[in-house]
Amino acid sequence: MRVLVFGAGAIGSLLGGLLSARHEVLLIGRKAHVDAIREHGLRVSGKTVRLAKPDAATRVPGGAEADLVVVAVKAYDTSSAMTHLRGLAKSATFLTLQNGLGNADVIGRTALRVVAGTTAHGVTFVGPGEIRHAGVGETVIGPWRGVDEADLVRLRDVLDDAGIPTRVTSDVRTELWAKVVVNASINPLAALAGVPNGRLVRDKRLLATVEAVCREAAAVARAEGVAIDAAETVHRTTLIARRTAANRSSMLQDLDLGRRTEIDAITGAILRAADRHGLATPLNRALHALVKARDSAAA
Ligand code: PAF
Repeated sequence: MRVLVFGAGAIGSLLGGLLSARHEVLLIGRKAHVDAIREHGLRVSGKTVRLAKPDAATRVPGGAEADLVVVAVKAYDTSSAMTHLRGLAKSATFLTLQNGLGNADVIGRTALRVVAGTTAHGVTFVGPGEIRHAGVGETVIGPWRGVDEADLVRLRDVLDDAGIPTRVTSDVRTELWAKVVVNASINPLAALAGVPNGRLVRDKRLLATVEAVCREAAAVARAEGVAIDAAETVHRTTLIARRTAANRSSMLQDLDLGRRTEIDAITGAILRAADRHGLATPLNRALHALVKARDSAAA
């Protein structure tokens, strides 16, 4: 398979690195990371240890061809990513496992075949040419636009075979909501407290806050018609935090690097839905305001 991964951050690099063992992979990323990969390969440490050898470039080459395009940029960059990927929009299947709500909608405005999903892997960007696979998690994929079950099963087999255990769902909207609730419960707290995910479940005060944020966000999901159970979602959130205990959440990594966070696509999406239903969400609103303040300070 010819795979193009647009966005060689932590998770994009992990997916591209693992897929490159069996497939022709081109990672599109920042210059320093691309230069390091071209020179020494992609070093993966932690739960997966390997030196992967994907091809890498800073932009999509003219006339590029791909069977699978993995969009792995931050949620706020999805729309601009699609302007660079327009040339592949009719021929390739697009896969998004990005954090936040709204990515598949944006991709589906241009691409004819779209698979949406979530992944609970924890990956830390160590530096150019190097990532740490800090926690293993489930990946779930489902149909968004122009794909059928056979396409999903084929893609699942490709991901499974690359060492990314994957499940197919027919209800990807529920998965996306469940994951956004997990991210809203872990990421802002880990980012503001400056702690790896594991501390959120080891520290009793932080754990109580995670659980309260999670229940509040799950109530919004239910108001949106998503069949998720609050207790089960709290359980899932703490399980993911435990399994990715050593990981610095993507939002914490963004703050560490002085980069914009995905708070608007995660907690912001929950607040917008809460407003539609007249639901009070004081904890999520406070976390949103605090992370936005850090975002503006970085900007
Ligand atoms: O955004 C993240 O960091 C990840 O989605 C997760 C699963 C919370 C692990 O840190």
